[in-house]
Amino acid sequence: MVTWIEQQLDQLSRENARLLQRLADSERRFRVISQGVLRVQEAERGRISRELHDGVGQALTGLKLQLDVLEREAAAGASPLIARLGELKELTERTLNDVRALSHLLRPQMLDDLGLAPTLRWLTRTFEARARVPVTFEHEGLRERLDPDVEIIVFRVTQEALNNVAKYAEASHVHVGVTCGEARLTLSIEDDGTGFDAGAALRATGEDQGCGVRGMRDRVQLFGGTFALNSVPGHGTRIDVELSLTHADKSGASDTSREQGVVPDES
Ligand SMILES: Nc1ncnc2c1ncn2[C@@H]1O[C@H](COP(=O)(O)OP(=O)(O)O)[C@@H](O)[C@H]1O
Ligand SMILES: [Mg+2]
Repeated sequence: MVTWIEQQLDQLSRENARLLQRLADSERRFRVISQGVLRVQEAERGRISRELHDGVGQALTGLKLQLDVLEREAAAGASPLIARLGELKELTERTLNDVRALSHLLRPQMLDDLGLAPTLRWLTRTFEARARVPVTFEHEGLRERLDPDVEIIVFRVTQEALNNVAKYAEASHVHVGVTCGEARLTLSIEDDGTGFDAGAALRATGEDQGCGVRGMRDRVQLFGGTFALNSVPGHGTRIDVELSLTHADKSGASDTSREQGVVPDES
């Protein structure tokens, strides 16, 4: 009897190990596919961004130059068309600026050409001008070039976090900090705004999955990083991200991932 039970237990534990192995394999495959999807998405954004900048942007620049010439000719002949030409030129300039901004937001060429520090400086300056909230951007030990996956994650998380600050936080100040060591990079974005129920936002599921805070968390964790969002209504919001700079962790299992959403005490 005892032997029979022992045999059964042994068989069960072997079956268990086999299932766990299959689960781990599936998870690894899922991770590789998802990483691939994100890379393809980024490459596609880059292509659209360049097309917008070089194609549509160049055409608009040409149009503006022609309008300049016409405006000068109209001025020389005191033509009544001069006011209309001025309006057209203004519209062209505004559209050109919109196209350039859109191209940069889709995928800043700067990120590929100059790396993270100049791109984050540009992003925080643009945010300041748009949202009229001062930002302190500090970085330490940031090398000119990092793993492209790491660069794009840091950029996208900062972009989404700043978007949220602009949309919801009513903050009077934002701090963006990046610290880069040999093996790890940490990123933090902190605002002193209204705060919100971070736990609920991270738990929520729905059709917009992949957007916003859950999108940031998933992107970070998919590449083996850790993501923490701390927010308490009335006390601002802080996002902390830690990413490995060595390839080994990136495709590794999710046991390096840690998630945290500090929920306000409801008692
Ligand atoms: N920095 C922040 N300050 C205050 N509220 C925030 C902040 N970031 C996010 N939120 C809140 O969390 C919710 C979820 O954000 P998010 O997932 O980015 O979705 P979306 O921006 O599409 O609404 C927002 O609707 C907002 O209420
Ligand atoms: Mg958002």
